[in-house]
Amino acid sequence: MTALVLAGTIACMLSACGQSSIDYGGGDGDFETESVSSESESAASSAESGSETAADSDSESAESTPVTMEGKKVGIALPSKEQTRWLKDAAALTERFQAKGARAEIQFADDNADSQAAQIRSMIAAKVDLLVITPVDSNALTDVLAEAKAAGIPVINYDRLIEKTGDIGCFVTFDNYQIGEMQAEYVIDQLGIDESTGDKFHVEFFSGDENDRNSYYLFRGAYDEFIDAIHAKTVIVSSGDTTLTATDTTDWSQDAAEQRMKKILKTYYADSTKLDAVICADDQIALGVMKALDADYNGGDVIVTGQDADDANLAKIVDGKQSMTVFKAFGNEAAAAAEAGSWLVNGKTPDESLVEDADWSFDCAYDDETYNNGTVTVPSLILTPVSVTAKNIQKELVDTGYYTMEGDYPVSVN
Ligand code: BGC
Repeated sequence: MTALVLAGTIACMLSACGQSSIDYGGGDGDFETESVSSESESAASSAESGSETAADSDSESAESTPVTMEGKKVGIALPSKEQTRWLKDAAALTERFQAKGARAEIQFADDNADSQAAQIRSMIAAKVDLLVITPVDSNALTDVLAEAKAAGIPVINYDRLIEKTGDIGCFVTFDNYQIGEMQAEYVIDQLGIDESTGDKFHVEFFSGDENDRNSYYLFRGAYDEFIDAIHAKTVIVSSGDTTLTATDTTDWSQDAAEQRMKKILKTYYADSTKLDAVICADDQIALGVMKALDADYNGGDVIVTGQDADDANLAKIVDGKQSMTVFKAFGNEAAAAAEAGSWLVNGKTPDESLVEDADWSFDCAYDDETYNNGTVTVPSLILTPVSVTAKNIQKELVDTGYYTMEGDYPVSVN
């Protein structure tokens, strides 16, 4: 057992996790809460250790998680349970904050921005010491964050940028532009688009919800890779949908993606035009797109991309139905959030030295130039994603401890 697992387990016992609600004590934690089982916390913990270099992972984990948040309460607001990635983040965040001595309380907003605002207000009323927020609607939290600031509660903005506020202590995310690039590069490479002499390729784009800034970066990262080929008419987007708004998938919904794909197939590909690839912003969208292709397309193999390495999609990759996904090591994202959170709670402003001091074995860059949210440029910690195909599932997902093989298929450890 790693030091981190042990710390997580002990903290878990102390904070009564595994029960359906967590009371912070002192009578101020009386709103309904979600909690994460100790099993999944331990799994997240070992997965995180697994992501570090094998030989020194134990000592490194222990060093990078000094107990600096003893007795502190952390309110964590996540967008939904619909997308399985947020459940993994919940487990990893809980474990990482517990390892620092803090108690974490999670709320999921069911993709409803009003519910999320109400949940955060409850956390403020319960006098949490730190908020960790992934917005449902990036533009809907200006007032709530002003209230957090007035109450003296610092904010970690987790994964999706919150717009129009100066009240964020630190933004922690992966490089979403790079994820879009990875998806596009895979397609360009597989189809041999750059080497093509006269062939035409048909590609369609399925973006995430346009209220999520990540969707913008993902779309731009992918689209920018195709721009020259689109201008040269080597790549044709038959639907004509070449903007974020036109390719938006409301709430990143699998059903919405399926319906849009069906419509596109019926309108533009029913005449035996070959569809070569669909750039799907994430794995839920990819599932919807693949359902539509299965039902309504007989024109041969279509390259389908994704993001998140969800179990269902990894099975599709093993079966050759989905071509690739992009894995974002949520344990590392949670570790960066907990580190930045502990700085804020201790009155320190995260800067370049946070990354230097943490000395993580994974890539993480401090960036105070890129993420302008319309009010300020938010100091950010940016992690590096990994492109995953059938060929590197073992190396990137199983050997790192995040997944285990069940028969032929990789399954998440938590
Ligand atoms: C996250 C993705 C996720 C999507 C839908 C994005 O903001 O970065 O990992 O698939 O939201 O929940």
